[in-house]
Amino acid sequence: MNTLKSLLITLSLLLLMPIFYACGGDESSERQRSEPQAEETALSEFELEHGIGPVTERIEISDDLDLAKVEKGRNIYEMKCEMCHNYQGRMVGPELGNIMDRRSPEFVMNFILNPSGMVRDHPVGQELLREYMTVMPFQNVQKDEARAIVEYLRYYYEENY
Ligand code: HEC
Repeated sequence: MNTLKSLLITLSLLLLMPIFYACGGDESSERQRSEPQAEETALSEFELEHGIGPVTERIEISDDLDLAKVEKGRNIYEMKCEMCHNYQGRMVGPELGNIMDRRSPEFVMNFILNPSGMVRDHPVGQELLREYMTVMPFQNVQKDEARAIVEYLRYYYEENY
């Protein structure tokens, strides 16, 4: 009986070993492995504030809403975003009704155009992934469509807040 017990203990220790290692037991190899990543995550000021992706400089946003863009953005939003995002309150992803108050237009566009890069390399994206535990999929949205969604979300915010 005792032999069986110690066998079981040894066995479970063996099974747990890799978990201990994964939790940072072996620091030196951990450091080596994460070095190239550390370089990747040296983000520019622009990237920190406006995200990582195809939008690399400030875009022009006029105070007046472009209603054609709002309409176009609304259609895409209803087709490709609404199943995961509420305007208020979390769903699969965070609420977006007030997103234009929380993030810059460039940030929102980069999130739409490069969601996997954002959760991998951007501190805000990494934090969101920890919270929502689903990687937002790229929805096959073009840059001009992402711009239209931003216009729709600006409109939504102005109408509802
Ligand atoms: C399959 C579900 C899903 C779909 C579809 C989806 N998202 Fe997301 N979205 C998420 C999740 C989950 C997050 C949180 C980050 C993560 O874990 O990837 C997120 C994060 C975001 C963020 C960042 C929010 C913040 O607080 O900074 C924006 C902006 C966003 N999504 C916009 C959109 C838009 C616009 C669309 C439609 C083109 C869309 N999403 C489609 C799930 C989705």
